[in-house]
Amino acid sequence: MPEKIIGFSKLSREDKIAWISSNFLNDSSEFKNILNKYLNTDTEVQTLHNSFSENSISNFYLPYSVSPNFLINNNNYCIPLVSEESSVVAALSNSSKFWFERGGFKSKIINKIKTGQIHFKYKGRKESLIKFIDDIKLDLIKSTDLITKNMRVRGGGIEEIKLIDKSNDLDFYFQLSVDFNTVDSMGANFINSCLEQISITFERLINESDYLNESEKKIKIIMSILSNYTPECLVEASVECDLDKLGTISGLSPHEFSSKFKDAFDIAQIDTGRAVTHNKGIMNGIDAIIISTGNDFRAVEAAVHAFASSDGNYKGLSQCSIIDNKFKISLKIPISVGTVGGITDLHPMVKLSHKILGNPSSSDLMKIICSVGLAQNFSAVKSLVTLGIQKGHMKMHLINLLMKNNASKIQIENAKEYFKNKKINNQSVIEFLNLKDFK
Ligand code: MEV
Repeated sequence: MPEKIIGFSKLSREDKIAWISSNFLNDSSEFKNILNKYLNTDTEVQTLHNSFSENSISNFYLPYSVSPNFLINNNNYCIPLVSEESSVVAALSNSSKFWFERGGFKSKIINKIKTGQIHFKYKGRKESLIKFIDDIKLDLIKSTDLITKNMRVRGGGIEEIKLIDKSNDLDFYFQLSVDFNTVDSMGANFINSCLEQISITFERLINESDYLNESEKKIKIIMSILSNYTPECLVEASVECDLDKLGTISGLSPHEFSSKFKDAFDIAQIDTGRAVTHNKGIMNGIDAIIISTGNDFRAVEAAVHAFASSDGNYKGLSQCSIIDNKFKISLKIPISVGTVGGITDLHPMVKLSHKILGNPSSSDLMKIICSVGLAQNFSAVKSLVTLGIQKGHMKMHLINLLMKNNASKIQIENAKEYFKNKKINNQSVIEFLNLKDFK
């Protein structure tokens, strides 16, 4: 076991690599070679990337893909996507093409409020606290004036401060819940800076108060941080068409297909095992565009899954209805993203993604992301209730299996034809590579 190292972050890149090599990789030179291979040859680009994170010693590539023909609210988008899962982009393209011919996606913002919380413990009379907070609310907001100045110019800022009594759930526990409008930024830094300032002012006003008694002044502020649960930053997307316009899908009539499809959606409403996978299919598309646009996919994932269980049971996030011969699917989810701030202003590929999307506002980006999630979901469930996903998935995965087994260029070319009507798995790929005819 290597000894604990002190001051690792202060070592040069070379020394960091040497330390890892000697402690974990038997001094193999392969490690350094791979790290160097993935460095950008443009030193300016490399320096920029190094600045994004501590202890950065190289870059980590994922494919940057695009999916064209994505019609949302009558705008034709080309969607930039970052995903390592081979079939995600193909499935999305399939879905967007299908719905392009049927009027495309409709999407709308339901609301756009983000919340921050100051968590504290208070042991006094509740009425005193309620009156005290009412009295100081404006002072708390005013104390953030310098931080909120620019945001207010852009139409955002602090919307509301509410006192929340949680003392029935946890002894003496209360919150100041602060609502924000962060306009086009995701706003995490903005919200946290405001909360920390409000917290300082709150503490000072408690001490100065001649309203609270000495024991009531012993309020313990525990922490101040934004909430990544954003159920009031909601967006909805839907697609619909007349039943007969669905056409025959993999041999199923519109009636057979839609009935099976709706059953699959309904199952996700009542079974957690299926709901998680159903939602994972939605997030396949959402994460890919969230990453390509430089947004925080952990925050979005956390919010979306909490939202999926907002009534106490974890459920599928999307709905399917067949009413009056109209087939409709929809998705309503919380999406907190920004089009300014963070790495959206810094990362050249992220900037490119925004450009490809026509430099959308954060509201437009929310609509695009929600539509992508629904399209991905449609494609996955469409495959599941017809041919199954493995056929398409393994077709896309074939190249990975060939590369893994050191196939030559010629073998990769021949494999596409050979596997047209054959099962694809690691064993069948090895067998193919051993056939003389295709070497
Ligand atoms: C695979 O990445 C995603 C699916 O499992 C989603 C689903 O089952 O709906 C195909």
